[in-house]
Amino acid sequence: MEKVTVPSIKDRKGKEKIAMLTAYDFCLAQIVDEAGIDIILVGDSLGTCVLGYGNTLPVTVSDMIHHTKAVVRAVRRALVVVDMPFMSYQESIEKAKRNAGRMIKETGAEAVKVEGGEKMKDVIKALVDIDIPVMGHIGLTPQSYHALGGYKVQREEERLLKDAKAIEEAGAFSIVLECVPRQIAKRITEEVSIPTIGIGAGPDCDGQVLVIYDLLGLLGDFRPKFVKRYVNLREVVKKSVCDYIGEVKEGIFPDDSHSFH
Ligand code: KIV
Repeated sequence: MEKVTVPSIKDRKGKEKIAMLTAYDFCLAQIVDEAGIDIILVGDSLGTCVLGYGNTLPVTVSDMIHHTKAVVRAVRRALVVVDMPFMSYQESIEKAKRNAGRMIKETGAEAVKVEGGEKMKDVIKALVDIDIPVMGHIGLTPQSYHALGGYKVQREEERLLKDAKAIEEAGAFSIVLECVPRQIAKRITEEVSIPTIGIGAGPDCDGQVLVIYDLLGLLGDFRPKFVKRYVNLREVVKKSVCDYIGEVKEGIFPDDSHSFH
């Protein structure tokens, strides 16, 4: 079992596709890691998936640290990347360094992810300069929910290309492209030297990422076009819980085999 590292991810460009998933807790992180995922992202999507917020804006550095520590305890092989939450890096470079440093030092994660393109170039460079590896994130950046007017496909080709190049120049080791038309994602992938990891960006990226709760069908019926649900775990879980309730009420569970003598 060879540990996935930042340099080994960079090396995959043009050679081997990168599979990335989110995880937010020990149990799922262990399953995902054992299955052979390359990168586990402790995404600030935990705000919506785990904490029940309407968007990712309320998520704090403490929330991220709490969940990332649990994930890191489970992982043996995958590269663990932690999302920098809203307002933990936008205010100043000093604050970005302090927060990124805390998140790496206190959790054991190996890299941070920062949303935003050209505007975040100096922040990304400052983190890379103190040896904190950075994954960029452009296109639909959920922390810009209000500025973008909601979750929409991002189609400004030249802007996106400039953003990708700025992130590359700043020293990031990879870039997430979220909700970008596939032709634009293909062009960016061809024009930057670091791996692109798509979500709603088509098949030509160097890798793909999904939110684990989407893949497992744990969330409600809302399903963006780019999500592939591999199992409807929500139904499986609901049925199991209903069966349990029924058996408890009818005195079927526990039976003798689940009892001590
Ligand atoms: O927070 C998250 O889960 C993300 C991925 C969707 C890329 O940023």
